[in-house]
Amino acid sequence: MAVSEVSGSPLVMAFFTVLLTVFSTGSSNDQVPLVLWSSEGYTLPPQTPPAAGHIVSSSQLDSYLSSILSAAPQNVLVFLQDKLSVDDFTMFGGVFGNKQDSAFPFLESALRSSPSPLMLPALSWAGSTAVLGVLQQHLGIPPLYLDPSSLAQLRLNASVPTLLVIRLPYSTGTDMMSPKDALSGNDEVIGQVLNIMKAQAVPYTAIYTALKPSRVIHEVSVGVQSVGRSLLQAPAGPYAPVMFKEGDKTCILMWAETLTVSLLQDQKWNPHELGPQTFGQSPTVTLTGSFCNDTRSRLVLNYQNVLGFQNFRLIFSMSRSFYKVSARDWFTLDQVELEYDGQKATFNGSRNIYAPAEYSYRCESVTNFRYPLLVPRLPTDNATLWRVSFNDFQIQGFSVTGQDFAYASDCAGFFTPGIWMGLLTSLLMLLILTYGLHMITQLRTMDRFDDPKGPAISVPQTE
Ligand SMILES: *[C@@H]1O[C@H](CO)[C@@H](O)[C@H](O)[C@H]1NC(C)=O
Ligand SMILES: *[C@@H]1O[C@H](CO)[C@@H](O)[C@H](O)[C@H]1NC(C)=O
Ligand SMILES: *[C@@H]1O[C@H](CO)[C@@H](O)[C@H](O)[C@H]1NC(C)=O
Ligand SMILES: *[C@@H]1O[C@H](CO)[C@@H](O)[C@H](O)[C@H]1NC(C)=O
Repeated sequence: MAVSEVSGSPLVMAFFTVLLTVFSTGSSNDQVPLVLWSSEGYTLPPQTPPAAGHIVSSSQLDSYLSSILSAAPQNVLVFLQDKLSVDDFTMFGGVFGNKQDSAFPFLESALRSSPSPLMLPALSWAGSTAVLGVLQQHLGIPPLYLDPSSLAQLRLNASVPTLLVIRLPYSTGTDMMSPKDALSGNDEVIGQVLNIMKAQAVPYTAIYTALKPSRVIHEVSVGVQSVGRSLLQAPAGPYAPVMFKEGDKTCILMWAETLTVSLLQDQKWNPHELGPQTFGQSPTVTLTGSFCNDTRSRLVLNYQNVLGFQNFRLIFSMSRSFYKVSARDWFTLDQVELEYDGQKATFNGSRNIYAPAEYSYRCESVTNFRYPLLVPRLPTDNATLWRVSFNDFQIQGFSVTGQDFAYASDCAGFFTPGIWMGLLTSLLMLLILTYGLHMITQLRTMDRFDDPKGPAISVPQTE
């Protein structure tokens, strides 16, 4: 957003301020990460990275950027994703999370070859919307929004500053693309753009950040704790959650409105609802085989006579590990298994189901079909014969204290489509207004764009 471009107009500034205030109210805990690096061979001025857990404010970002831009290449690329959270690096990254199948191979290789990359894990959301404004101020030029495909035609000049913005999408469970696929698609775009820069031999400074967090994890602050607890902590129904005790200490809690398993028989799905046997007034489930320690938890629910199987077990396996980049422990629901009369069907959580280790995980719907969070372990696994569907599901396998769930980390995003429509409409209006003003102030330079037969696009140099 061309913020400082319109700073001359008090009306627009006021509008913008109001807009920011409205949308930042109550979301001061929401942060996005920012990664900054320079092309090979360009060392950036050394920065003191923020202390773990510290949230970088807009003004701190301003001082980071002004120190860096004083010595960095003045061709600045901003990869601006719709949404991103440090969890995305944690869950889908290689270097970051020590995982083999990283969604960010190009980004990681760029970071490795850059002498002094800067990683800000938690930039305040207000700071992230201000990134472009700050860059524009320091470089003295307006941002140019680019389609990656038109970048190839761009002739860059190392001695002329440019501010190029490449927008990247991020889709979530509501469409068919998984976040991981979206992220690796974006990573490929980053790779292409960096290759074009390399081919033109123009040194650059690159920034990867987002307009908003991809998932909002609410920190529990002392002040809101009691409210949060009463709203989120109590199970949503009349029955207590399943509780597994190791010794006399409760270590696993699980609750669901419904726990449905369906078996494909004669090309028909035959459902069975495990809820009443699990949570009812007189639950018949036993927890034999469950266990937990500091790093692994396994909840085994044993049933009799389910869908014609004498012995039927539903097993949740969780693990806990420390992730350096977010400097915190996370737990993941790694597998959900069905064992029925000696046969097995295994679903992977595939890193879709996770929460900070000191919280519980909550999700409206966990299934292996329709926006699946669970996937069969192997394409030939018996899991393809089963459908599982857990509604209003909540689980906690670590850091359980007492009989109640800890604060819930919800799988759903914070913003509903309605809120987004409102936000986008306002931003669109602002954009049109800004664009109009921008056009008025830029009238003199417009003739550069008028000749369709002219040479390839060149970047406007304005004061
Ligand atoms: C880059 O820009 C400078 C200053 O505007 C100019 O002198 C130089 O010729 C340009 N170089 C190229 C390769 O276009
Ligand atoms: C927890 O249990 C797992 C599986 O039995 C085992 O591999 C691991 O070493 C145990 N960890 C601790 C800290 O006891
Ligand atoms: C999968 O199901 C088939 C037939 O129902 C059975 O023979 C096989 O043992 C099962 N596989 C596993 C891994 O349980
Ligand atoms: C499920 O997890 C197992 C072991 O963690 C892995 O070997 C397998 O490839 C995973 N399957 C899928 C579909 O992700």
